[in-house]
Amino acid sequence: MGKFHLTLLFLLTLFTINASHARHHKHTYKRHKHGHYITPPSSGISLPPSPQPDDPADAPAYLPSGVFDVRSYGAVGDGIVDDTASFKASWDAACSNTDNSEPSVLHAPSGYTFMIQSTIFSGPCQSNIIFQIDGSVVPPDGPEEWPKNTSKHQWLVFYRVEGMSLQGGGRIDGRGAKWWDLPCKPHKGPNGTTLPGPCDSPIALRFFESSNLTVKGLRIQNSPQFHFRFDVCHTVHIESIHITAPALSPNTDGIHIENTNNVQIYNSFIFNGDDCVSIGSGCYDVDIRNITCGLGHGISIGSLGNHNSRACVHNVTVRDSLMRETSNGVRIKTWQGGSGAVSGITFDNIRMDSVRNPIIIDQFYCLGKGCNNQTSAVLVTDIVYSGLKGTYDVRSPPMHFGCSDAVPCSNITLSDIELLPAVGEMMLDPFCWNAYGSLDSVTIPPVSCLEEGVPPQPILESGIDRC
Ligand SMILES: *[C@@H]1O[C@H](CO)[C@@H](O)[C@H](O)[C@H]1NC(C)=O
Ligand SMILES: *[C@@H]1O[C@H](CO)[C@@H](O)[C@H](O)[C@H]1NC(C)=O
Ligand SMILES: *[C@@H]1O[C@H](CO)[C@@H](O)[C@H](O)[C@H]1NC(C)=O
Ligand SMILES: *[C@@H]1O[C@H](CO)[C@@H](O)[C@H](O)[C@H]1NC(C)=O
Ligand SMILES: *[C@@H]1O[C@H](CO)[C@@H](O)[C@H](O)[C@H]1NC(C)=O
Ligand SMILES: *[C@@H]1O[C@H](CO)[C@@H](O)[C@H](O)[C@H]1NC(C)=O
Ligand SMILES: *[C@@H]1O[C@H](CO)[C@@H](O)[C@H](O)[C@H]1NC(C)=O
Repeated sequence: MGKFHLTLLFLLTLFTINASHARHHKHTYKRHKHGHYITPPSSGISLPPSPQPDDPADAPAYLPSGVFDVRSYGAVGDGIVDDTASFKASWDAACSNTDNSEPSVLHAPSGYTFMIQSTIFSGPCQSNIIFQIDGSVVPPDGPEEWPKNTSKHQWLVFYRVEGMSLQGGGRIDGRGAKWWDLPCKPHKGPNGTTLPGPCDSPIALRFFESSNLTVKGLRIQNSPQFHFRFDVCHTVHIESIHITAPALSPNTDGIHIENTNNVQIYNSFIFNGDDCVSIGSGCYDVDIRNITCGLGHGISIGSLGNHNSRACVHNVTVRDSLMRETSNGVRIKTWQGGSGAVSGITFDNIRMDSVRNPIIIDQFYCLGKGCNNQTSAVLVTDIVYSGLKGTYDVRSPPMHFGCSDAVPCSNITLSDIELLPAVGEMMLDPFCWNAYGSLDSVTIPPVSCLEEGVPPQPILESGIDRC
């Protein structure tokens, strides 16, 4: 399916949900009046004290500093009954709570498993929101159970929300297994073939046009597709989360960001089947620290410049992290064609443990065949690699700088690099193609293939676009 259709579908879904959101609103306070009193969650944030009425008849219309327990809105939490409407009703109540001196808390308590369908939680809200998950949240189990009238592209969506923390000691389980085995997934068709698509699978958590977001403490596992995707968001802080999916689960990227800026990803653990963190076009001011990535494809900037698009990514730092048995360590990948630039990228103090391609720039990225070389490319410049140490799996060189003929990479600096084969003694030489840069210290293995100085100005009709 084309991008246009995807967008259209997404927007259509938004309109449907927005309309029902508006209808729900009227009933919000009434429903809440009959709500129960709330037990504070066993873990996580400290909640405002619940009122202690002598007589329930004197109960206020709604709690002044609102805690909106999904059970008060009818959620059953047995993992079977559909609790979507209850989550929507609690969201509407929390979101329209006009006492905004404290954040409104939507609470999914521990000891319950809430089954909810593809849902869009829309803002803007009257107050900041704490979406507190201490229990488990699951979607319908696989494509057969997925309601035909809900989006297959996404499960839980936050749209136009400003000032929200998604947090708790609970678990979000995407129940991806049946999606990964669809015959349209790679080699899952009869006799190891891949049947033609479309092969839609839902992204577990999607944030769209939102800002000032925090995600912390949660465990997220087995998404049918990406675990998190942020589009057109700013000011995102992700802290202490734990993402897991099997090594062979297709497209289960941990966190993908696109057109999103001012992002922090700290102290998290991501073991999965695709990119650990992937950074798409339009991202800048991204700081990633102390994350452990395992099994999947490592940290990736890109892919960028597909279908001759313009891509800009700048000021990204990844530091103090560990890559365990991933296929790539730190990668920048761009397609032939395209324009724009990736610049000001720092990879610092990253430990590699049996990583296949610890350091890689690939400007010939191509899925399938038929990607011809073109006369334009996304510029890759001002890239720092320092303190990258550990071992590589000996199938390919530990450093690979494959830059385009149209626009060479420039100002790559390497210091304090020490990459040894995980087994045996055989060292593989670094690979460079059209890569300009310098060494600030001796590296292991030695790098002699970087070209010195500044590349000759490429002859491009439009000149270089540094974004
Ligand atoms: C999907 O259809 C079911 C059954 O007709 C209905 O209850 C539900 O509200 C619909 N969901 C959406 C998002 O339209
Ligand atoms: C961001 O959201 C938090 C609550 O999650 C709130 O305390 C803070 O004031 C918000 N910041 C801005 C700049 O809106
Ligand atoms: C799968 O392979 C077997 C043995 O080669 C063959 O007999 C069978 O027809 C194949 N099935 C399909 C669906 O291609
Ligand atoms: C790094 O993150 C891990 C969780 O993956 C945490 O246990 C550890 O305390 C963090 N280290 C620092 C220095 O913050
Ligand atoms: C780069 O991003 C960081 C936040 O990650 C920010 O503090 C810093 O000011 C940015 N640098 C530039 C040159 O914009
Ligand atoms: C593209 O260019 C690279 C480097 O010059 C070369 O190795 C590769 O074979 C070319 N690919 C095609 C499809 O022409
Ligand atoms: C090379 O890149 C580094 C790191 O981004 C930057 O500080 C430096 O100014 C760049 N050098 C040139 C000559 O552009």
